[in-house]
Amino acid sequence: MPLAADLLTWYDRHRRTLPWRAEPGSDRSPHASPYATWVSEIMLQQTRVDTVIPYFERFMARWPTVQDLATAPLDDVLGMWSGLGYYSRARNLHAAAAQVAAAGAFPGDVAGWRALRGVGPYVAGAVASIALGLDVPAVDGNVERVLARVHAHPGGRAAVHELASTLVPTGRAGDFNQALMDLGSAICTSRRPACRDCPISDHCQGRREPESYPVRRKRTPQPLRPAVAAAIVRDGSVLLMRRPTSGRFGGLFDLPGGMLEADEAPSDGLRRLLSQRLGVTAAPGAPLGVVRHTLTHMKIVRHVLRAEISGSPELGHYTAMRWSSPTATGELGLSTLARKALALVNAPQALLPLPPRRDTPEPPDGERR
Ligand code: ADE
Repeated sequence: MPLAADLLTWYDRHRRTLPWRAEPGSDRSPHASPYATWVSEIMLQQTRVDTVIPYFERFMARWPTVQDLATAPLDDVLGMWSGLGYYSRARNLHAAAAQVAAAGAFPGDVAGWRALRGVGPYVAGAVASIALGLDVPAVDGNVERVLARVHAHPGGRAAVHELASTLVPTGRAGDFNQALMDLGSAICTSRRPACRDCPISDHCQGRREPESYPVRRKRTPQPLRPAVAAAIVRDGSVLLMRRPTSGRFGGLFDLPGGMLEADEAPSDGLRRLLSQRLGVTAAPGAPLGVVRHTLTHMKIVRHVLRAEISGSPELGHYTAMRWSSPTATGELGLSTLARKALALVNAPQALLPLPPRRDTPEPPDGERR
């Protein structure tokens, strides 16, 4: 049997039940809806299925249609995304919902999906195959790994996309693509793949040394970037500022502060940044601790200090200001880094010595490259 037939036979028995997937035999459309597929695929880029499921369910309950999403305030969408990371995904999804609502319909082909904000070749292929039933590939990192192994190919997204185009079966491309995703997640894993359980091992040219494919590119280590943030507390409320819409953590609320300059002490940086960004004179107080956060291209080491300010803060660099209870930030859109820093306001770290570092990357949280 050809590879696609073996893979689909396996998928029909072992497919995962996921909230964005149409169940076979259900009286719903044979394809998941374009909206649900699109939202799920955007969330699933860079983020694990288990993490995405509760976010997806809350998102769909709050904005069941693309029109609902198009008219929602961006702050609410960012609030719902809080903790999922890569917030440009949420901003782009919101902007693209407005594009669809203005057009009055979802695009009907890959080129139309590619024209939406934040939709690249992978998401366009996934939605077109899964929701529209078009015979096109969808190559994400997992699929790239599986197909690179099958062909003993060094990999590379564009080259593997070409390969995948030759394999997609007529009429079942969506299932084929999702079968590759499920296979990549359960069997053809990046380390120690379970080749003995693989339904397509007979077709696999890389089977003898699967971990050699795709060829791993050396990652340059992320530089450590020191930063500082101020815990300014008045009458039990802490000052939170909404960051500029574009750039890192764009549109999210955070403690005021910023990146330190080379060799700058946290207290000096805090005075400089609060003067530049809020127009106030600051008196740095007790250090509350240090939080670390890994983004794709840097590791942020953020010092959190109490601070007193004289005068009223101006919006300056920021786009909104809130005095909020540090324990009840509710639906405010906060990055995971901001949550970690806020946790110190409630419970400062025992200072010195710092706890030993674990260098395992955090769940992604920040801008996509
Ligand atoms: N990862 C990305 N998209 C997925 C999907 N549709 N099903 C399972 N895992 C995925």
